[in-house]
Amino acid sequence: MLVERPRLVANIRRMQRLADDAGVALRPHAKTHKSPLVAHLQLGAGATGICCAKLGEAEVFVDAGIGDVRLPYPLQPVHAARLLALQAKARVSFIVDHLDVARGWSEAMRAAGATADVLVKIDVGFHRCGISPDPAAAVPFLRAVAALPGLRLRGILSHAGHAYHAHSDDELRQMAKAEVATMGALAHEARAAGVVIDEVSAGATPPARHSVPAGRDTFTEYRPGNYVYFDRTMVGLGAALRRDCALSVLATVVSAPAADRVILDCGSKSLAADGARGFAAAPGHGDVYRALVASAEADPDPHLIVERLSEEHATVRVADGAAPLKPGDRVRVVPNHACVVSNLTDAAWLVEGPDVIEPLPIAARGRTA
Ligand SMILES: Cc1ncc(COP(=O)(O)O)c(C=O)c1O
Repeated sequence: MLVERPRLVANIRRMQRLADDAGVALRPHAKTHKSPLVAHLQLGAGATGICCAKLGEAEVFVDAGIGDVRLPYPLQPVHAARLLALQAKARVSFIVDHLDVARGWSEAMRAAGATADVLVKIDVGFHRCGISPDPAAAVPFLRAVAALPGLRLRGILSHAGHAYHAHSDDELRQMAKAEVATMGALAHEARAAGVVIDEVSAGATPPARHSVPAGRDTFTEYRPGNYVYFDRTMVGLGAALRRDCALSVLATVVSAPAADRVILDCGSKSLAADGARGFAAAPGHGDVYRALVASAEADPDPHLIVERLSEEHATVRVADGAAPLKPGDRVRVVPNHACVVSNLTDAAWLVEGPDVIEPLPIAARGRTA
C-alpha cells in the first residue's frame, strides 16, 4: 500500500478549509487510515478531535496521545470498564439510539461514580443505526436520555451513508439539504422543549462539499473519513478527482496465461472486494495505472479491468490494443474503497513522487472490537 504524501496533505488541508470557511469544527473519522501518524497531521491542520468506530481503535489513538475521541458507534455497556479506562486519559463520547442501552450505560456510569458524554444518533435516511428524526418521538427520546444519571447528553448526530448511493450531483445536493433541514428542525424542537443540544454532528465524504456550506448554521462539527485518501468510489461520486487519490496498491504481474488475461499479486486480501459506487457504474475492482509514480497527468489504462479477485490473485482482463504485460512488470491499482484497504496491512509506505519517505504504521488495523 502506497500513500502519496503530497496528496494526503492536500486532502487534509482542503477539507479543513471547507470546514473552517463554514465555521464548522472538523472531527475526521480515523477508521479510514487507522494511523496515529495521519491523525496527528489532521489535528495539526486544525481538526478538533477524531472519531473511531470501535473502542479498540480508540485505545490505540489515545495511547498515541490523542486527547479527544468520539465514537459514532452504538457502544454497548458491557464495555464500560474499557470506556472508563479511556476516560482517565482522554475526552471520550459515543452515541446511543436505544433506551435500554442508554439505561445500561447510565447504571454502569453511576456505579463507577462517572459520567459519559453521549449523543443521540438520528437516522437521516441511511436506515442503519439511529432513531427516527420525527420530533414527536425523537424529542421524548432525547429528554429521556438527558434525564438519565451518569449520562451527559451533548446533542444529536447523523451520518448520511445513503449519499454513497446517489445517482447524480444534484441528488447528493438534495440529500445534503435534507440532512441539514432534518437535523436543524430536530435541534430546534428539542431546544424549544427545554432539552439542551450543544452539538449537532454530521459527516460523510460524498456529500461534504454540499453539506458543510449548507450546514454552516446548523452543524457544529463535520466527521468525514475517506477524504484523506479518496478512492475510485469518491471519484465516481464527484467528491474527488483522480489526481486527489492518495492511496494505491503496488502490484506485480505474476502470471500472463493468455493474451487477454494477466494475474496480479493483489487479491481481496490486498485490494478488498468492495464494488465501486458512483453516478455511473465502474466495472472491476480498481483503476490500473501503468505509471508507478503518481502524477496529475497519469490516467489509468482503460484496457485493463480488474475483473475478479481471489484472496491473493487479481485477474485482469486485457482488452485488445493494450500494451503487453509480462510477469515481473509492475502496476499501481487505485482501489474502489480505500478505508478497507488500510485495514489489510500493518504498514503502508509514504511516498512522494519516486521517493519512499518512510513507513506509515497502521497501528489500529484489525482493531475491530
Ligand atoms: C457514523 C459515521 N460517521 C462518519 C463516517 C465517515 O464517512 P466517510 O468515510 O464517507 O467520510 C462514517 C463512515 O463509515 C460513519 O459510519
